[in-house]
Amino acid sequence: MLGKVLTDRKLIAVIPGDGIGPEVIAQAMRVLAFYRDERGLPLDIWSLDLGADRFLRDGTTYPAEVRDRIARDASAVLLGALGDPRVPGLDHARDILFGIRFGLDLYANVRPIRALGDRLVPLRGRVAKDVDMVVFRENTEGIYVGMGGQFKRGTRDEVAISDDVNTRKGVERLIRAGFEWAKSHGKKRVHMADKSNAMRHAHELWQRVFFEVAREYSGIEAKHVYVDALCLYLVQDPSAFEVIVTCNLFGDIVTDLGAALQGGLGMAASANVHPRVALCCDDAHGDTRVALFEPVHGSAPPLAGKDVANPLASVLTVGMMLAHLGWPAEERRLEGVVAKAIAEKKCTPDVGGDLGTRAVGDWVVAELGRAF
Ligand code: NAD
Ligand code: IPM
Ligand code: MN
Repeated sequence: MLGKVLTDRKLIAVIPGDGIGPEVIAQAMRVLAFYRDERGLPLDIWSLDLGADRFLRDGTTYPAEVRDRIARDASAVLLGALGDPRVPGLDHARDILFGIRFGLDLYANVRPIRALGDRLVPLRGRVAKDVDMVVFRENTEGIYVGMGGQFKRGTRDEVAISDDVNTRKGVERLIRAGFEWAKSHGKKRVHMADKSNAMRHAHELWQRVFFEVAREYSGIEAKHVYVDALCLYLVQDPSAFEVIVTCNLFGDIVTDLGAALQGGLGMAASANVHPRVALCCDDAHGDTRVALFEPVHGSAPPLAGKDVANPLASVLTVGMMLAHLGWPAEERRLEGVVAKAIAEKKCTPDVGGDLGTRAVGDWVVAELGRAF
């Protein structure tokens, strides 16, 4: 903490990870290097050799000393993707990803669903302005906590249970973060997606807390939608949505659907943060604590090593990170550069171009230089 205050420099821990992770993060790092070298932003990069290769080499997943230094010294973590067919149990991926999300209590996974070009929208008759929303996905609870167990494994009578944990504090702070974001961004509507018709205990809590919190935001319409119907409505009319708050699992699923509306997983960025909200049980760290930034996509093993992965999600993710670190104008500037890459087809085949991953990075860095 003292180091952060004395130097005022921002230490970015970078975990390229597996599959296409290192390829897309290499381009994101070039953007960061541009800001550091050409624009003088006080950024220090700390590259971490964590992921499947390291795990297969020496069994390391997420060491305590890395965890502690990230919490102590880093301002942000930039992560590519984790997941490798050589590690079928994905233990390393869970240790690292959940180690950061849970360990730093990054309870809000903020996933913008914004199309940066008309032709990215796959729906007939719809254009980019119809796809402009943000999903607040609860990120530290739900079915992801890993509680539960197996009984009589491998027998005909086996039982497998994954517990779905929902706490008042966890639900309330995520919902509040969504409303606060809506308020500060001039949004008029917040949807909460649940499955309270089937999950009557956990999602009755979501319903109750949602409408309770909503009463404090009189200018914002609060609407409930069942998550299955949400998937229908998102495809029928995405323009109806501005902010969606939902639980961990539904947020994961809905944001892949959302990614399809914005041009695919190669275009979807995310931030894992701990916004300060007025909650009696919240702590004093506020949203200045270290946060995690990652593209929504995974390691896409079939694309790895072919120079075809779209790096624009990672470029947009750097934008979210720079905004979090105190340079919000750079997020908008990077969005502008990405929108231009799409408009001019300076992009990979998944979004209609014919450039490779690295060539897109070349173009982005050159365009960024012209964008000031
Ligand atoms: P995936 O996101 O890797 O791929 C899904 C589809 O999107 C594939 O067709 C892929 O080719 C495409 N795609 C993804 N990123 C792309 C990009 N940048 N450019 C172009 N196309 C892209 O999901 P999956 O195949 O279900 O999972 C693969 C592995 O990644 C699994 O091990 C999974 O657990 C892991 N995963 C990790 C993260 C993470 O680290 N945050 C996120 C999702 C999945
Ligand atoms: C994501 C991913 C992860 C999640 C996986 C890899 C555990 O799908 O970040 O969207 O479900 O959170
Ligand atoms: Mn996912």
